[in-house]
Amino acid sequence: MQNQQHEKPLTLCVIEGDGIGHEVIPAAIEVLKRVAPDVVIRPMHAGWEYFQKHGTSLPEETVQAVQECGAVLFGAASSPAYPVEGYFSPIVRLRRTLQAYANLRPARYLPIPTSREGVDLLVVRENTEDLYIGHEHTENEGRVGIAEKVITHDATERVSRLTYELAVRTGRNKVTIVHKANVLPQSDGLFRRVALEISGYYPEITTDELYVDTAAYWMVKDPTRFDMILTPNLYGDILSDMAAAWGGGLGLAPSLSLGDKIAIAEPVHGSAPDIAGKGIANPTAAIMSTAMLLRLYWNRQEAAQRIEEAVYRTLAEGDHTIDIYVQGAISTAEFTNHICNNL
Ligand code: NAI
Ligand code: MG
Repeated sequence: MQNQQHEKPLTLCVIEGDGIGHEVIPAAIEVLKRVAPDVVIRPMHAGWEYFQKHGTSLPEETVQAVQECGAVLFGAASSPAYPVEGYFSPIVRLRRTLQAYANLRPARYLPIPTSREGVDLLVVRENTEDLYIGHEHTENEGRVGIAEKVITHDATERVSRLTYELAVRTGRNKVTIVHKANVLPQSDGLFRRVALEISGYYPEITTDELYVDTAAYWMVKDPTRFDMILTPNLYGDILSDMAAAWGGGLGLAPSLSLGDKIAIAEPVHGSAPDIAGKGIANPTAAIMSTAMLLRLYWNRQEAAQRIEEAVYRTLAEGDHTIDIYVQGAISTAEFTNHICNNL
């Protein structure tokens, strides 16, 4: 894992994106400024709204700014449900362009009724290949759809190494490798072999493996059995959304995408057009994503801890946004204020 050099000031590129990105990202920046006032903020643009005005969803100057900063906080980007000429998802493109190859998605118990006690797991999802390379075509006059699934030795090796290094650094004990190598011995089988090979260098960490369907069963039945999960892109996408439910819901699910020279802090949720502009979005996911950036990329443990504890205390005091439950719900701004007061 890379840290920015300590002599240089830490810089954070901030992309609000679309919808509730305009609400939750400013909230996260407000909290960040309290615990790390030295961080230089560089606001940039990307997303659907930007595309509609300027004809691109990810301007070159944004990519360049992200590269220069080495760290970005990304809100969410809306994607139209129909194909639009020239439009692509800026976040998917950013992850790939910058080779942010490991997407870390934790789910941890929080003191709210929708969260499950005892859950404290981290899904590490390979972020650059698998079915998400988007090589699709149709045959037989559109009656057959074909998608290519690509798993490589090198991408599996780097995400596996990062997973085990992270386990050691953060004091986790077990890694469960999730795949479907019985049905896909050439692709998932390769993932399994390489991940197991890397696990051999870390005898202090327990390693086990599950087929993805069995993993889904256990994610519902008893999520407390998991510590870390290491898995290809698609399974990681699905399992981490399941896990997010145990953490209390999408409004509370943070994530961090890491590469060798880049970190993308990004809430798991999207632009939530159904509630955008109302000032009621839950900023917790964005705030906790920022805490992940502080802890795992910038090595600012103390600042990260202050944020995590303030969020925990705020929720424990019963303050909540409408997604958690309706009765007594407060606005994004009020909730953020309570967190700031609890720092
Ligand atoms: P979504 O996550 O935006 O919303 C799903 C549901 O959860 C909605 O009812 C929404 O109101 C609620 N929700 C999500 N985050 C919340 C928060 N912080 N506070 C309170 N409630 C929250 O997913 P959906 O509806 O499938 O997608 C909406 C748009 O977002 C689409 O255009 C989609 O393509 C895009 N999207 C973008 C992502 C990204 O940029 N990383 C990720 C997922 C979706
Ligand atoms: Mg998802």
